Amino acid sequence: MATVVVGVTGGVAAFKAPIVVRECQRAGHDVYVAATRASLEFVGRSTWEGITSRPVAVEIAGEGRAEHVELARIADLIIVVPATANSLARLAAGFADDMVSLTVLASHAPVVVAPAMHSNMWLAPATQANVRTLRERGIHVIDPSSGALGSGDSGIGRLPDPEEIAHQALEVLSAYEQASHALAGRTVVVTAGGTREPIDPVRFLGNQSSGRQGLAIASAAARAGAAVRVIAANIESALLAGLPSGVQVTRVGNALQMREATVNQVADADALVMTAAVADFRPEAASQSKIKKDPTNEEAPTIRLVRNPDILAEIGHSKKRPPLVIGFAAETGTDEEILAYGADKATRKGADFICLNRVGESVGFGDVSNDIHILDANGHIVGRYVGSKDEVAAGLVGHMASFLDNLKR
Ligand code: CTP
Repeated sequence: MATVVVGVTGGVAAFKAPIVVRECQRAGHDVYVAATRASLEFVGRSTWEGITSRPVAVEIAGEGRAEHVELARIADLIIVVPATANSLARLAAGFADDMVSLTVLASHAPVVVAPAMHSNMWLAPATQANVRTLRERGIHVIDPSSGALGSGDSGIGRLPDPEEIAHQALEVLSAYEQASHALAGRTVVVTAGGTREPIDPVRFLGNQSSGRQGLAIASAAARAGAAVRVIAANIESALLAGLPSGVQVTRVGNALQMREATVNQVADADALVMTAAVADFRPEAASQSKIKKDPTNEEAPTIRLVRNPDILAEIGHSKKRPPLVIGFAAETGTDEEILAYGADKATRKGADFICLNRVGESVGFGDVSNDIHILDANGHIVGRYVGSKDEVAAGLVGHMASFLDNLKR
């Protein structure tokens, strides 16, 4: 039995929300209702209290104290039905001044939103942009259906059948519950960020990696029940702070430190995911003092570089490697070229899989979407995940879970 919070906002379709509550109860779940004040014009407190046998949450209880997030905390699933254009905008913008938007904002539970409004409002660019934002954040938005609308017009914007809404929402819940156990009992090491190879006390050779993809994978693995260790090279503290509690973080600076930490941490791990951009070369010796210009000499200094160890190849080829080793390759070039580079890396590095990530002007580094092909050790494409870093991470974690499960058999 799960705890479902049904959030009701103020549209004519609110009269169908009690059926969603009933369906969830019929499936054996415990249902709480949060309602906006405007929605009480359509369905009153006594209806909600009658069908749930508990008070409906309308006022923000104990604002500033723990109670106001209590519903968010106990929710295993939140269904917002109906969601007006106004409430979609408020959810997208992160408002928290009514019990419905506050509960969505404060909860880690999966959220299903069922919009209902006049066609013109649904099709308005502002509403469509809000829906996109919500979907990008992993909120499941059910498309409205077409037919007669409250205004007397006809078109898209009708609330789908409440039974269908409850059915879809409970499917989202069970997929989420399944995913949240997929890596239970596993230990996953994720390297992330980019190494910095010191030239002198103030300069380094570095790269553009933000660490976001690695942190998204670490978060998805933790949500899937794994014990997660992150080896973070030069990642902003604010990004690290977003990791789920319980994820262990080791901070490193350069490639040699990353090698040492990674070799130590994988000793008892089930999987290593090497997302870090590790510098292939480092200055042979970092200058102890800041390198100064010589005013009498126009010539630039020469910095001699030496090779760094290839951490992935070392672990991938080691006898004591974890059962699952995954590398990343960020490549530029045509489709054919990047697939050839990826296939070469997959075979060369002893990894079970290489995630091939095209980088260029708008894909790859920083806060942008990803398109990842997964290549197996023979360089064959065995999967592809496209979307936000979180969506790609969730896909990869599913892939990892089934690989590890198949090993057991
Ligand atoms: N990697 C590593 N140690 C290195 C360099 C890379 O462990 N010294 C890992 C990365 O974390 C990544 C994979 O190897 O998982 C591929 O990295 P990439 O830099 O694309 O590969 P290279 O072998 O360095 O190839 P290239 O010549 O394209 O730089």
